[in-house]
Amino acid sequence: RFRKRDLECRRDIEQFIPAFLSIYDSLIPPEEEKAKQEQLLKSLERLVNSEWPEARLYLYGSCANSFGVSKSDIDVCLAIDEQDVNKADILLKLAEILESDKLQNVQALTRARVPIVKLMDPVTGISCDICINNILAVVNTKLLKDYAQIDARLRQLAFIVKHWAKSRGVNETYHGTLSSYAYVLMCIHFLQQRKPAILPCLQEMEATYMVTVDDITCAYFDEVGSLSEFGAQNKESIARLLWEFFDYWAFRHDYANAVISVRTGSILSKRAKDWTRRIGNDRHLICIEDPFEISHDLGRVVDKYSIKILREEFERAAYILQYDPNPCVTLFEPY
Ligand code: GTP
Ligand code: MG
Repeated sequence: RFRKRDLECRRDIEQFIPAFLSIYDSLIPPEEEKAKQEQLLKSLERLVNSEWPEARLYLYGSCANSFGVSKSDIDVCLAIDEQDVNKADILLKLAEILESDKLQNVQALTRARVPIVKLMDPVTGISCDICINNILAVVNTKLLKDYAQIDARLRQLAFIVKHWAKSRGVNETYHGTLSSYAYVLMCIHFLQQRKPAILPCLQEMEATYMVTVDDITCAYFDEVGSLSEFGAQNKESIARLLWEFFDYWAFRHDYANAVISVRTGSILSKRAKDWTRRIGNDRHLICIEDPFEISHDLGRVVDKYSIKILREEFERAAYILQYDPNPCVTLFEPY
């Protein structure tokens, strides 16, 4: 119904800047929420250290990557030496320790794809998932946070895109649509591709930060304070960027051949990555390369049914930004 390609923006899109910025403002979590999260992390760390003195807790995901909206649950990673014990035993022990404290709804999910303990802290009202030794997630959280500090438009774009995806039901990996992490990577890649570029490619620059995790070397330029003028040559507004973002994913992305890659700041070919056939459950119908686990396609969850839904949603969004009298409302209408 919406499959109609418009090559250019045919309206005064800038009139919607204030409305989009106020949506963005309404999604930003207040400062006191951050303090509560830190407080919970500290008290969890005390509990954990009573059993494992060497263990550390790290925040990751949206509570730490600066793309978290207000009242999100928090994601915590327990970094622990697991040479003689398996993850399931650690999780069960952890659940036992947490249960004996004042924490509520403690639940060990040892058979999940990423095994976790869930809990709710009645003092702060925060729910939390704790996983074990998912250090790559801690490192990719830092990468996203570093990108967010370079240009304010990344956070604006990603918040609005995530809000759109949640409103439209296309942010559910178990239903074959994309994770928040994937959407943020799509936004970073998109801003790297603008002319002039709004974001640099940190992994192609001289590395000032380097860690090795599970044989993967994660290295990039992380002195982002020195890059605050990087995108200044490009004057595109959030309204314009939203229009271009959805237009790109609706009409211009080459789904048959292209892989988006934040790591290289460019488009790679499916052929070069050997992502041309279905292997197991990975179908590669939309290809988003993980910046560190480069054999990992974040689009792997998308199947032949959900790709259709996803592309129709991109087209709907592009259509609304082009024609709808009230795009700042219509875009987020529940499906
Ligand atoms: P919301 O909770 O939806 O606000 O966003 P979130 O940023 O917490 O997103 P999500 O639940 O998708 O992922 C949480 C974190 O887990 C991400 O920030 C990543 O660090 C990590 N993560 C999620 N999915 C993947 C994945 O497929 N591969 C890797 N390496 N890390 C992932
Ligand atoms: Mg999360």
